[in-house]
Amino acid sequence: MEIGILGSGNIGGTLARLFAHAGHHVRIANSRGPASLGGLVDAIGPNVEAASAQDAVEGADLVVIAVPWTKREEVLGETGPYDGKIVVDAMNAYTEDFEIEDLGSRTSSEITRALVPGAMLVKAFNTIYYKRLSDGKAKGEPGRLAIPVASDDPAAKTVVMELIDQIGFDPVDNDGLVSGGGRQQPGSPVYNEPIGADEMRRELARA
Ligand SMILES: NC(=O)c1ccc[n+]([C@@H]2O[C@H](COP(=O)([O-])OP(=O)(O)OC[C@H]3O[C@@H](n4cnc5c(N)ncnc54)[C@H](OP(=O)(O)O)[C@@H]3O)[C@@H](O)[C@H]2O)c1
Repeated sequence: MEIGILGSGNIGGTLARLFAHAGHHVRIANSRGPASLGGLVDAIGPNVEAASAQDAVEGADLVVIAVPWTKREEVLGETGPYDGKIVVDAMNAYTEDFEIEDLGSRTSSEITRALVPGAMLVKAFNTIYYKRLSDGKAKGEPGRLAIPVASDDPAAKTVVMELIDQIGFDPVDNDGLVSGGGRQQPGSPVYNEPIGADEMRRELARA
């Protein structure tokens, strides 16, 4: 699959490595331009290339948003169109001071959705600490951690769940973008908790 990643930091850089090693072709972008990404790209090896944010989006079937929440309008406003693309929102709504932003009754992905018109939006990867992402395990291996996936688009959700499985985690179907997304936000029982699929399903059902 052609994957674009916006953000080359903790989450974006880690996902780029995992997806490239799983055999996908990755274009990764940051705020400083492709020339600044040489070290990361060399360290990952084949299947990854440095790109501008627009090139990362343009060439992709699936785009991961892995920038700080405070930068979402900047990066999404200058890229696109997103029509027909799967967009994975890995962001958490923290302010620049790392406080949880009060979004009222809305979930962060409802706000993101307005910035990527025409996309099939999926909330995933926001719950897991990036260092744990490097510790994927084979299917059935003890200690395999779970990652929840919320989306209103069943086909897009399936694609993202397969990707999660490929990089060593158990995907857990977490309902729609709003209902599910609200149950995997910062402060929820599955946020930043290293738990397996059965426990995650129990926690999501109780939330
Ligand atoms: N850290 C975690 O464990 C974790 C886990 C789950 C979810 N998340 C979420 O993932 C997102 C990224 O977190 P992080 O820890 O990976 O942050 P980070 O290490 O600070 O990386 C942020 C990246 O976003 C890039 N960026 C900022 N503005 C941009 C723009 N306008 N265009 C393109 N790229 C831009 C930065 O570019 P430069 O490198 O050029 O500055 C940097 O590569 C956040 O929303 C966070 O809540 C983080």
